[in-house]
Amino acid sequence: MAPAWSGSAEVTARIGVLVSGSGSNLQALLDAAADPWFPADIVKVVSNVPGVLALDRAARSGVATEVVDHRGRARAEFEADLLRALGDVDIVCLAGFMRVLTGAFLSAFPGRVLNVHPGLLPLFPGLHAPRQALAAGVTQAGATLHLVDAGVDTGPILAQGTVPVLQGDTEATLAARILTVEHRLYPMALRWIAEGRVVVEGGRATIALKTGESRWIGG
Ligand code: GRF
Repeated sequence: MAPAWSGSAEVTARIGVLVSGSGSNLQALLDAAADPWFPADIVKVVSNVPGVLALDRAARSGVATEVVDHRGRARAEFEADLLRALGDVDIVCLAGFMRVLTGAFLSAFPGRVLNVHPGLLPLFPGLHAPRQALAAGVTQAGATLHLVDAGVDTGPILAQGTVPVLQGDTEATLAARILTVEHRLYPMALRWIAEGRVVVEGGRATIALKTGESRWIGG
């Protein structure tokens, strides 16, 4: 199990990122972490799918990569292997990682596993959120950055951003518009977690301010 991360603006958190695909969110995190003032370093990228673009992106940034294939094995064994591959990271970012993690994995990083979802949770959880938004006829769609709990897309919300649904949108055009929001939200929320500023009470997250007060995330 990784050591407890209490968070500090002075200490750089070690980040592991789990991916399954193109890794554009990973790229947003790599770009943010390239700033020496960013309070987190991406130290390991683990994919459950071999050969994905996300692995190339990590390698181009000099970050260690590993493939832990989920196919043909028990979930417990897969998750144990993920934990081994992540090593001593402080925080885990799911970035287009297409497997559900159980409490056995999550308990190794309490309050320190983040996920991005291409929908305004709690609406449209699970797969194909932009498709669900189009089918529902909503006029605003968006992305949610949240802490991961044992449910599917149910953990405390850290940040949300909206985009309009435009006339003639397809699932692809809407998903691409939402992705730009994901890329903006992820580094911001990771910074808050890395600095240890997120307080969760009753399933709701607030941000601790330097004054000692805490601020509701919705602004
Ligand atoms: C993103 O829309 C993410 O929210 C969803 O899958 C997509 C992955 O994008 N879970 P990428 O791999 O970060 O480019």
